[in-house]
Amino acid sequence: MENAKELIDTASREIAAATSPEGLEEVRVKYLGRRGSLTLAMRELGGLNPEARRRAGAELNAAKDQIVAALAEAASRLGRAALEQRLVAERADVTLPIPFATEGRVHPISQTIDEIVAIFGEMGLVVAEGPHIEEDFYNFTALNIPPEHPARQEHDTFYLPERADGTRLVLRTHTSPVQIRTMLAQQPPIRIIVPGRTFRCDHDATHSPMFHQVEGLVIDRTTHMGHLKGCLIEFCRAFFGIDDLPVRFRPSYFPFTEPSAEVDIGCSRKDGRLEIGAGGDWLEILGSGMVHPKVLANCGIDPSEYQGFAFGMGIERVAMLKYGIPDLRAFYDSDLRWLRHYGFLPLDIPSLVRGPLSGGTPA
Ligand code: PHE
Repeated sequence: MENAKELIDTASREIAAATSPEGLEEVRVKYLGRRGSLTLAMRELGGLNPEARRRAGAELNAAKDQIVAALAEAASRLGRAALEQRLVAERADVTLPIPFATEGRVHPISQTIDEIVAIFGEMGLVVAEGPHIEEDFYNFTALNIPPEHPARQEHDTFYLPERADGTRLVLRTHTSPVQIRTMLAQQPPIRIIVPGRTFRCDHDATHSPMFHQVEGLVIDRTTHMGHLKGCLIEFCRAFFGIDDLPVRFRPSYFPFTEPSAEVDIGCSRKDGRLEIGAGGDWLEILGSGMVHPKVLANCGIDPSEYQGFAFGMGIERVAMLKYGIPDLRAFYDSDLRWLRHYGFLPLDIPSLVRGPLSGGTPA
């Protein structure tokens, strides 16, 4: 029988010489495997007399412990070495271009919402949302549109079946009910931007029963019409990426704002082609105004202390203008060819951190 000391010496030498996990495993099997020299030596103990068996057994057990410990130590050494080798060999070149995801496009509606939210986000407005199915109170009454008000007819409202108490829920006809929900939930200062779906029962080349709007609301003690104008001029120029885009405020009427203004941007029309920019002609893109004192009061905000402005615009409309999309109905056809043409690659999406892309390129 090999003596224990010899076993430890040769095993230790071989363990130290191992340069790979596989080599180390070979050494382990050679000594500790089923037919390994240490295993065999232990099996031979049975033939010894009790006194010699006890002594040799103790020595072999100690040898086994030492070899096991040496193997573990070598395994971690080899692991570290392998890691270090990989760190050197597999250095990542962070300047390489990112492999592009070529499947899938961002829908122009999503892209446009992201751009609008990014621009107003820079101005300090935060996103708020509300339900598509609304109480009449939030969609109309609180917005100073009482039951007999003519504006109710203009809204072509989808009503849900009458409830037990005789009232009917509506599919919201604009995003303005979110103003009400926000003002009822918090005191000013309020700065929100509200993108979302809206519904009206008309359907033709320029109207769809479901469409998208984005609403803005800013309320504070000293918010005035100058802020409304500055904010919306800035928005129009940033969104269309035209620094000197003419922006015009035209007196208008909404029940929930006073005074109210429609916002037009400059354009030119040549040979049936519409071009955004200074061109002597005008195109309406937004409704806006100073929040009506009655609306503030309806929401428990004291109009003698607070005032502010609101605005709303159709997302499809500005998306069509910015990206030259000719037909509204195609937005909802889910035609992949259309989406491949007018959709956006994911990396074109602006973020609040990165800011809007001016004049982002359709993919
Ligand atoms: N809610 C209005 C509409 O749908 C738009 C608007 C919003 C106008 C806020 C003024 C202020 O036509």
